[in-house]
Amino acid sequence: MTEQTATATDFDFDDFDLAWLRAKEGVKWRMPGPEVLPAWVADMDFPVAPPIRDALAEAVARGDLGYPAWSNWTGRNPLAEPFAERMAGLYGWRPRPEWLRNFSDLLQAIQVVLHLTTRPGDAVAVQTPAYPPFLKTIEMMGRRMIAGPIERSGDGWGFDPQRLEQAIAASHCRILMIVNPHNPTGRVFTAAELRSIADIAVRNDMLIIADEVLAELAYPPHRHIPLASLGPEVAARTVTLTSATKAFNFAGLRCAVAHVAPARLREVLDAQPPDLFGPVNVLGVEATKAAWRHGDAWLAALLRHLDGNRELVATTLAARVPAIACDPPQAAYLAWMDCRRLALGAEPADYFRTAARVLLSDGKGFGREGDGFARLNFATSREVLTEMLSRMTTAVAGR
Ligand SMILES: Cc1ncc(COP(=O)(O)O)c(C=O)c1O
Repeated sequence: MTEQTATATDFDFDDFDLAWLRAKEGVKWRMPGPEVLPAWVADMDFPVAPPIRDALAEAVARGDLGYPAWSNWTGRNPLAEPFAERMAGLYGWRPRPEWLRNFSDLLQAIQVVLHLTTRPGDAVAVQTPAYPPFLKTIEMMGRRMIAGPIERSGDGWGFDPQRLEQAIAASHCRILMIVNPHNPTGRVFTAAELRSIADIAVRNDMLIIADEVLAELAYPPHRHIPLASLGPEVAARTVTLTSATKAFNFAGLRCAVAHVAPARLREVLDAQPPDLFGPVNVLGVEATKAAWRHGDAWLAALLRHLDGNRELVATTLAARVPAIACDPPQAAYLAWMDCRRLALGAEPADYFRTAARVLLSDGKGFGREGDGFARLNFATSREVLTEMLSRMTTAVAGR
């Protein structure tokens, strides 16, 4: 692709209007209907990052949409080197490029790993509240969910490693799913927290599925640490999952990666017919390479904008609805709002949809710990966010 020609004005995260958003075909704006502002699914509202837009446009202009030179059959992986370079550059972690496998999204990778490593009835440990499709996956696959609660104390969101280990040991659980940065609490786990998790996995001989898809959205001073970078013993039991689709906002292009370090799992995976789980597509690969190699200036500007929105959510709620407890997330653009003191009924998201015409994610879907919570996606323009917050705070004040 050509060198980036983006200027500061290409990175205006406020330069779009409601009509443009409402014309989108994606589910975020399709679903809620004309009167409602959507703040639910984790898509951002911004235009495509210029380097990604250019890479996609160039592939189309070249007429280069035929069978790619790589495929699951050849074993050549176009993302192996870009992924390894990205991890080394950002975190000083040196993954093995030849251990990278591609999937259409993280959810598919998780389902494939569970399919190949567990049987119905087996236990899978997950920290809850959890991204709803993970809980649904475990339920639909007939696995038993072992919940390790993430709870709020005076210091913010955290977990008790002893309690997690007791639940794991009692259920003979051999699979541990870790989401870091965590959705929905926005926590970026510290080295000490990650070490406690890794120790549990080692002591209980567990396979770790580490979902690190939100890593590039950590706000300084919080710094993401890949779990597999903690040492060879941890790495050898860890499948690290990520993609460029969350930080760079192209989930529709269906392109994710799994760094499959456990040798036995790689063997089993590679023995499957290569197209069984669906390969990635050429545009997803082009976008991912462009994001990882040329996206840093856009990403830095994005984080500045999101940080401003994060501040706006925190100050508005604190000033106008202090009964909602909401710690600013340490990563990503999802505010996990504890609405229990407002007594808005069983489902705060229902209340805000009806009374404020703002569509949030309901807390219940995140597990028992989500009762009385709602999740607000603030990855939009300042104008749209201001309107959402105004509708929500006015609705609560008018009760
Ligand atoms: C932590 C986390 N993991 C995974 C996903 C889903 O990723 P994918 O669309 O690649 O399955 C999301 C989506 O928001 C997420 O927040």
